[in-house]
Amino acid sequence: MTRVIAIYPGSFDPPTNGHLDLIERGSKIFDELVVAILRNAEKAPLFSVTERATMLEALTGQYNNVRVDTFDGLTVDYAAKVGASSLLRGIRALTDYEYELQMALMNRKLRPELETVFMMPAEKYSYLSSRLVREVAQLGGSVKGLVPELVERNLKGKLDPAYKLGDFTDGNGEKVVARKSKARKKS
Ligand code: PNS
Repeated sequence: MTRVIAIYPGSFDPPTNGHLDLIERGSKIFDELVVAILRNAEKAPLFSVTERATMLEALTGQYNNVRVDTFDGLTVDYAAKVGASSLLRGIRALTDYEYELQMALMNRKLRPELETVFMMPAEKYSYLSSRLVREVAQLGGSVKGLVPELVERNLKGKLDPAYKLGDFTDGNGEKVVARKSKARKKS
C-alpha cells in the first residue's frame, strides 16, 4: 500500500497551540507528516528558523510519524522533493478561506498531483494566529494557553530587555548554546 506523505508548510513564528492541534489531527490521518518551516519568509522574524525548528521538534517528539524540516523556494517543489502527495493547511474562519483557496488553486496549477487538505483546528483556537501572539507578547500581554509553555518561556526570554543570546531553551529546558555571529575578519 502507498504511504501517504503530507507536508504542513508555514512560518510558525512562533508555533501556537493551533498549529499543534493541526499537527495532531494530521498525524492521525497521514502516514507521515512533515512540518515544513519556510526559510526567508520575513526579513525580520521574531524567532530564527533554527529556533522554530528546535521548538517544533521538541513539541512534536511524541508523534513518531511527524518530522520537522525547513525549506525555501516553491512549496510544490519541496513537496515533490520529499515525495508528498498532500499539503495540509488549517482553516480557522471564513476569513482564511479566500487566501487559502487562492494558494491551494495556485499550487494545484503548479503541481496538479499535490492535493491540498484543509483541516479545522479546535474552535477554541479559531482566533489564534502567530502574528497576534507576537503582538500580544511584545506589548506585555499574556499568551498563556495560546502557545505551549516552551514557546511562552522563549517568548519571554526573547522579549525581555535583558535577553542575551543563549537564553533560548529547547524542549528539555536546556539553554541552547549562543548562536553568536562569527567575528568578521579584517581584510
Ligand atoms: O504560515 P504561513 O505564513 O501562512 O505560511 C504560508 C506558506 C509558507 C505556506 C506560503 O507562503 C508558501 O507556500 N510559501 C512558499 C512559496 C510558494 O510556494 N509560493 C506560492 C504559494 S501559492
